[in-house]
Amino acid sequence: MSEKTSTWILWTTIGRKVLLALSGLALFFFLIFHLLGNFTLFVKDPGIFNQYAYTLERMGFILYVMEGLLILTFLVHILDAIFVTLENRKARSSSYYKEGNAGKPSRKSLSSKTMIYTGLLVFAFVVFHVKMFKYGAHYVAQNSNIRDLHRLVVECFKTDYIVISYCIAMILLGLHLRHAFFSAFQSLGIAHPKYTPYIEKLGILFAIAIAGGFLSIPVWIYFH
Ligand code: HEM
Repeated sequence: MSEKTSTWILWTTIGRKVLLALSGLALFFFLIFHLLGNFTLFVKDPGIFNQYAYTLERMGFILYVMEGLLILTFLVHILDAIFVTLENRKARSSSYYKEGNAGKPSRKSLSSKTMIYTGLLVFAFVVFHVKMFKYGAHYVAQNSNIRDLHRLVVECFKTDYIVISYCIAMILLGLHLRHAFFSAFQSLGIAHPKYTPYIEKLGILFAIAIAGGFLSIPVWIYFH
């Protein structure tokens, strides 16, 4: 292989990892925004959550653009993740690679080794989730003409199998985020031996906060 070809391969590999990190960070910000909005479900008055959803809906064209960008980001992230995983597998099966211990301190964990599986399962959850809520029953709130999304969410989260599936999906999301956060920093070159342990701890903290936050909603509704 010529030096030029190997340099090109190196740059496209780095480019893919950077793209994976940037699209992952964009999805991460979406999750924070979505979680904060969903926290209005804890408010006793159902009108607050409905009003929040209606405010988003009223954004019209801007919302369509944002949804388009979100779908694009999801697609880029998933396709890129599949490419990177296949490339890593090919590199590992080549004669140059020797399977061995990751050494100490090892960064391999259940979360890092299952990224592609947890990612694909979370994506499957998103498809099921969007179909259930965004394209689910269209109730109309009493005393107003806006959609009663609160009623649909409560009805769904009173159903055993839905709550159990959500809990499993949120555990998978937590596992995915735990490694994703740290990995994104590494891919973007924002890593330093001095800060690595803190970035790793911050990743665990975010994973617990986000997955735990989402998990608390169906569990709370189910028991109330
Ligand atoms: C368990 C707590 C969650 C609740 C209560 C919830 C609630 C909702 C609701 C009500 C909608 C429909 C909004 C509308 O039609 O105006 C929605 C949309 C959506 N949710 Fe969730 N969600 C939760 C967790 C998640 C998670 C963990 C993800 C991603 C991993 C996610 C991704 C999405 C996406 C992509 C949409 C479509 C957004 C759009 O097209 O505007 N949600 N969610």
